[in-house]
Amino acid sequence: MSRHADTPRITAPDIRARKGGDPIVCLTAYTAPVAKILDPHCDLLLVGDSVGMVLHGLPNTVGVTLEMMIMHGQAVMRGADHALVVVDMPFGSFEASAEQAFANAARVLKETGAQAIKMEASGPNIGETIRFLVDRGIPVMGHVGLRPQAVNVDGRFRAKGRTREERARVLAEARAADEAGAFAIVVEGVDEALAPEITAAVKAPTIGIGASAKCDGQILVTDDLLGLFEWTPKFVRRYADLKGVIDKAAAAYAADVRARRFPAAAETYVLGGKPQRRRVAGDGKRG
Ligand code: KIV
Repeated sequence: MSRHADTPRITAPDIRARKGGDPIVCLTAYTAPVAKILDPHCDLLLVGDSVGMVLHGLPNTVGVTLEMMIMHGQAVMRGADHALVVVDMPFGSFEASAEQAFANAARVLKETGAQAIKMEASGPNIGETIRFLVDRGIPVMGHVGLRPQAVNVDGRFRAKGRTREERARVLAEARAADEAGAFAIVVEGVDEALAPEITAAVKAPTIGIGASAKCDGQILVTDDLLGLFEWTPKFVRRYADLKGVIDKAAAAYAADVRARRFPAAAETYVLGGKPQRRRVAGDGKRG
């Protein structure tokens, strides 16, 4: 049970009210068991479309579907009861019109039970789409700067803010998302000096990733922080080496199987002798 079980779940307005206060702690989650571990430590869990690259081996997030996001959103909601759970809208699910965005976002909230969605909306219609959703009861987290869903236009994942025009565009998109009612804004992959400028310009808290410690909060892809991959982006700090831990465990298991050291007596059932204690359904053990 989470140590927060008797406190109500954090809401989108709670996050918005944290502007300029204690840093907002956010991580990505895609599965129930990992969400359960992260939940007591986080204010917000993002079911990011990074799930496509992290769990499904896709080269980028463009191939992620609404069905994938809903399935992982449902799993995270089963594991977390404290943090605000936000589900990313995948590429192709919101760009055509505000009506399309509303229909798909409403489906996400209904089918997952999550309380908010995130959209990598950009361009002149960004405010209109966000306002359309907020006015109809859907809390929206904006996302500006490096937008991974735009990889095919940009050519590669590339930090933003090299030119005056690029900085002005990111700042304008953050302002538009803010004015339209976004409860928070992810600022990803921008020049270190641009992130505090955005943070000062908007009323919504900014959540940085590859941005600046001067944002109102931070987010990382959990699997990067845990060291599950050979390569991580420059802005990631690794807090563990799970790849090494898994590698060692798999090698030890393989050696035990090959040497017939596994399973040992304690790991097998001996039936037909003494009566076995009946396993009660739901006792938490598998098998
Ligand atoms: O998809 C994702 O995980 C994200 C975060 C990195 C902000 O958008």
